[in-house]
Amino acid sequence: MTALALELCGIEKRFGATRVLRGVDLDVHAGERHALIGPNGAGKSTLFSLIAGERRASAGRIALRGADVTRLTSAALARRGLARSFQSTSVFAKLSVRDNLRCAMLASLGGGAGLTARWFGSSRAAKQIDARATGLLDALDLSHVANHAAAALSYAQQRALDLGLALAGGAHTLLLDEPTAGMNRAEAARAIDLIRTMTAGKTVLLIEHDMDAVFGLADRVSVLAQGRVIATGTPAAIRANAAVREAYFGTPTGAAGASDE
Ligand SMILES: Nc1ncnc2c1ncn2[C@@H]1O[C@H](COP(=O)(O)OP(=O)(O)O)[C@@H](O)[C@H]1O
Ligand SMILES: [Mg+2]
Repeated sequence: MTALALELCGIEKRFGATRVLRGVDLDVHAGERHALIGPNGAGKSTLFSLIAGERRASAGRIALRGADVTRLTSAALARRGLARSFQSTSVFAKLSVRDNLRCAMLASLGGGAGLTARWFGSSRAAKQIDARATGLLDALDLSHVANHAAAALSYAQQRALDLGLALAGGAHTLLLDEPTAGMNRAEAARAIDLIRTMTAGKTVLLIEHDMDAVFGLADRVSVLAQGRVIATGTPAAIRANAAVREAYFGTPTGAAGASDE
């Protein structure tokens, strides 16, 4: 049996009379890189907001590492090791790049203001945080801009920092929403390389439009269309899947719901 990092069962989400998600079932294996693709407006970002505890599902169940987390808040989920990056950047614009990473590390320690104060008061702990920040800056190729305000970074650098913030908190499961959005091809290829190396050993569920990125990175791909996951499989199987072709290109098919699992 494969350990599941995430398990979604029958997830529904309505906005008023609009049913965006109509019974999403999705398994993400521990340690896999799983891409979620689907037409614009399919509900991919909405699904992420439910998994991350930012919104409540109208129905269904979400399990993280086997534990029911359907009703947990985003803060509680973050403490359990789930991190989310956003379609737009979520850094503290005026803080330096290094301080953004330090803040993410401190926040992940939890325990409230008392613990944070003790950590600030402990020079050994501060040194540990500095050392981890330095390591992350190096891995993210941001050392040369470590002391710049985050707002001064290029767009691609801000996205790298965004990934770093998710990693700085020590998350084991990462939700990445369109990590290459707005990048040129070279930047996107670099971002994918960065994600691959930085998330080794972690579980990644990512929304991605760039098919080169999806096929270069993902172990498995799931397709969200008409409010459901219509197919899950290896990148090659998904590329060949008739139902997926129909969802994207409108070509007729008799293979709806096909899956190679
Ligand atoms: N807060 C909201 N209120 C009403 N409708 C929403 C809300 N958020 C998203 N939607 C609708 O849900 C659908 C799915 O949106 P979204 O999850 O952003 O899709 P995707 O990320 O797949 O492009 C869209 O039709 C969008 O207009
Ligand atoms: Mg989206």
